[in-house]
Amino acid sequence: MSPPEGCLAGKVAIITGAARGQGAAAARRFVDEGARVVIADVSDEAGKELAEELGAAAYYRHLDVSAEEDWAAVVGEAVETLGGLDVLVNNAGVLHFSALAETTLADYERVIRVNQFGCFLGMRAAARAMRDGGSIVNVSSVEGIAGMPMVVAYTASKFAIRGMTKVAALELGPRGIRVNSVHPGMIDTKMVQDAIGGYEVDLTPVTKKLALRRMGNSEEIAELVLFLASDRSSYSTGSEFVADGGSLATHALNMGS
Ligand SMILES: NC(=O)c1ccc[n+]([C@@H]2O[C@H](COP(=O)([O-])OP(=O)(O)OC[C@H]3O[C@@H](n4cnc5c(N)ncnc54)[C@H](O)[C@@H]3O)[C@@H](O)[C@H]2O)c1
Repeated sequence: MSPPEGCLAGKVAIITGAARGQGAAAARRFVDEGARVVIADVSDEAGKELAEELGAAAYYRHLDVSAEEDWAAVVGEAVETLGGLDVLVNNAGVLHFSALAETTLADYERVIRVNQFGCFLGMRAAARAMRDGGSIVNVSSVEGIAGMPMVVAYTASKFAIRGMTKVAALELGPRGIRVNSVHPGMIDTKMVQDAIGGYEVDLTPVTKKLALRRMGNSEEIAELVLFLASDRSSYSTGSEFVADGGSLATHALNMGS
């Protein structure tokens, strides 16, 4: 068998929330570029299906990102069976819509546990196990840069990811491990639909305000994640990488069409 080719050739990666959406798109691109990938998620059926599609270069493991014991098991196995860990993509996330006054502590805690604790536990596991020269990519959001009504817990968690990224970059930089955050805008996945109870919603009025006048897709975010995971971004760390169709290019006073 010839050695793998591509910008992630020989690298071992764990991608959380990779059973579908942006995580699945990243898993596909990573395998194309020569990585061996652990698809980690709580959605077992979809995760196993994707692993089957990707063949020998990928396997699926159940990982609830908010559970310390799951991290120990999944990272431990990757290091033992694949020989190390080079890339971690903290991509798993959940969204919850409710007004501040209506947000229960349980709602708030559920979002923080997955989005914020999950990223912390993942980075901590990587800090212990990752080979020197590795890369951690934390998926935040435009809500990690600016606020939006109805998503107080989500916004808090995504701001936290942006901050944690910088601390990790400073601590792990001497080992050549780079840590960056990605800030997607509105991306066409099932996340929004799930958060509103499965209904289809017409997002055209929102996308009309964007410079590019359209939603993004998972593959467009996967390209950015791939860039940050690979040595092509070798001098970038502790930084924020936005892919939002221009949503942060303007502000609420915009009177244009
Ligand atoms: N879709 C958007 O518009 C958008 C915009 C900005 C940021 N993001 C972020 O991008 C990331 C990927 O989201 P997506 O759009 O692909 O959504 P998605 O809902 O399609 O995928 C999220 C994945 O995370 C998994 N997941 C949920 N809880 C988990 C847990 N506790 N442990 C492990 N896995 C878990 C889900 O099973 C799912 O496979 C998220 O962090 C999200 O907040 C999404």
